[in-house]
Amino acid sequence: MTTPHIEAAAGAIADTVLLPGDPLRARFIAQEFLDAPVQVTARRNMLGFTGRWQGHAITVMGGGMGIASTAVYSTELVRVYGARRLIRVGTCGGLGEIALGDILLAQSGSTDSRFNRMQFGDHDLAACADFALLRGAVDAAVALGVDARVAHVFSTDCFYDGAPGLHDHLRRHHIRGIEMETAGLYGLAMREGVQALSILAVSDHLDRHEKMSAAERERGLSRVARLALTVCAGP
Ligand code: HPA
Repeated sequence: MTTPHIEAAAGAIADTVLLPGDPLRARFIAQEFLDAPVQVTARRNMLGFTGRWQGHAITVMGGGMGIASTAVYSTELVRVYGARRLIRVGTCGGLGEIALGDILLAQSGSTDSRFNRMQFGDHDLAACADFALLRGAVDAAVALGVDARVAHVFSTDCFYDGAPGLHDHLRRHHIRGIEMETAGLYGLAMREGVQALSILAVSDHLDRHEKMSAAERERGLSRVARLALTVCAGP
């Protein structure tokens, strides 16, 4: 069984998939957290691993950068491999009164991408997290003593040279994180009838012009992954 972009065998992908952008982060999370991780796909070096966390089968697979890439992998994971729960584990830029290293649980994803509009009659979709997953993540953060906050995020297609004034619009709407995937992932999950949540460490601050070091980013990702896995093991 293969798809154009995933070469995993039938049954090799778990119901729950953690999606970091970077395939090497997928390998890091699998090696660091999962029991008996097995590499299940490597097409285009987009590595995926399946293993167990506290007895629960979990796949962790790179999704690439941006809505377009994330949507390709997510669509095939859901439609062909039967994934039912997609949790993006990543980083974002921060805006306003949040600090570097804070963890955001993305309640909604606004976007400058046309991806959701193309499939929603050119209307504006309210691309939202799955409520049960979001609530589970809030509970898991409390249980782990992790300071995570529910926030709105914005997914841009333009890492460089985005629309002038965009950050002012985000501040005006109390959007606290900017990244490149969540709005598309949420829209796709709503259409497919599956659960999705993005858990994001703030890796750079757009107002304060601060940036995490590579080591800090890795620590941030570990906290995000632990939180995501705790959600998966929850009730
Ligand atoms: N913009 C888009 N994506 C990001 C950023 C950003 O500033 N920081 C981390 N991911």
